[in-house]
Amino acid sequence: MNGLFITLEGGDGTGKSTQASLLGEWFTAQGREVVFTREPGGTDLGLELREIVLHSRGHIAPRSEALLYAADRAHHVATLVRPALERGAVVIQDRYIDSSVAYQGAGRVLDPEEVRHVSEWATEGLYPHITVLLDLDPAVGRERLESDNKPFDRLETEALDFHTRVREAYLAMADAEPTRFIVIDATLPREEIRDRIVDRVGSQS
Ligand code: TYD
Repeated sequence: MNGLFITLEGGDGTGKSTQASLLGEWFTAQGREVVFTREPGGTDLGLELREIVLHSRGHIAPRSEALLYAADRAHHVATLVRPALERGAVVIQDRYIDSSVAYQGAGRVLDPEEVRHVSEWATEGLYPHITVLLDLDPAVGRERLESDNKPFDRLETEALDFHTRVREAYLAMADAEPTRFIVIDATLPREEIRDRIVDRVGSQS
């Protein structure tokens, strides 16, 4: 596989999609094929699963929620991500396995390693080359979301202590895997964030 697989992670309101497009512009200027995608919802099936997992009205049991994200991920990797990497594309993806470990593992208080194993099974062990963690105080993330005036999804409505556990889990994962992760303060100006990411990925592409 000659492609480059980059994921963006972090809490809600950290600016992942802005950075995905800035990074995509950079790779396009280098003459690379860029594929933007996201989880949940990177495929047609994924869009249906996204609707269920983010907007179902009733309660969803935590293990069921974890399996819905994993089901989305299995189909996404098999039908979109792996084929793109096999053609040599740069895949820039908003959220992946680390989101499940942080949100369903630490947030919902399932066993994070069990949650990880489900996703590893779902993806046949595909991990990104680089993961950008945009780190932000969840209270600031919430203010940013509120100023967007969009309705909150099922995860965004969770209390701040849920989002604090998510943040801590992300930082612990980054500490454990320093060669895959790059951690960036999400309050920096967006061009500065872009430059830091490019410095790191430029040396690997
Ligand atoms: P996202 O698409 O980033 O939200 P938005 O479109 O509102 O910016 O992610 C949707 C939500 O799903 C987000 O709150 C995090 C959550 N999520 C999980 O809980 N587990 C997962 O495995 C993934 C991929 C996302």
